[in-house]
Amino acid sequence: MATNQSLDLKLSTSQRKVLEQYDSEQGLQFYQNFMGEFNIHYGIYETPYDSVIRASENTIKFLVDLIQQRLLIRPEHCIVDLGSGCGGAAHYLALTYGCQVTCVNLCPNQNQQNYLRAQELGIAHLIDLVECSFEELPQD
Ligand SMILES: C[S@@+](CC[C@H](N)C(=O)[O-])C[C@H]1O[C@@H](n2cnc3c(N)ncnc32)[C@H](O)[C@@H]1O
Repeated sequence: MATNQSLDLKLSTSQRKVLEQYDSEQGLQFYQNFMGEFNIHYGIYETPYDSVIRASENTIKFLVDLIQQRLLIRPEHCIVDLGSGCGGAAHYLALTYGCQVTCVNLCPNQNQQNYLRAQELGIAHLIDLVECSFEELPQD
């Protein structure tokens, strides 16, 4: 687990569990292989032949469409993703709308995956990573 001792000392029991589940080497590999690479959520299967990755992306599109019904996302918007995983939703938002996305996530390994992928996609300037618990958000 990629957590340093000073961080570890400050963690609550539930936060430790989050790191154990998501940020261990096994956890990271499991979620990347079985839940759609940069997405850690269930998918929406439009056909029985959809891949896990495709189905995971369908979920993001479905949710973003719901947001769009209330608010048109524009490049000047800044969206906060609480519990951002490896950044799948953040990358989709930044790529599709050119908006800034602040990703809050406790897990250093996932944050690193998020950062590397954002660089690969050329959108690192649109993704801010905040490594902390969403229960203890910084004021600024
Ligand atoms: C089911 S995953 C979903 C990840 C991402 N939203 C997605 O759909 O791909 C839950 C995420 O929430 C993060 N998480 C859980 N509890 C957290 C907390 N207290 N503070 C920050 N992140 C947390 C985990 O590290 C993990 O990345």
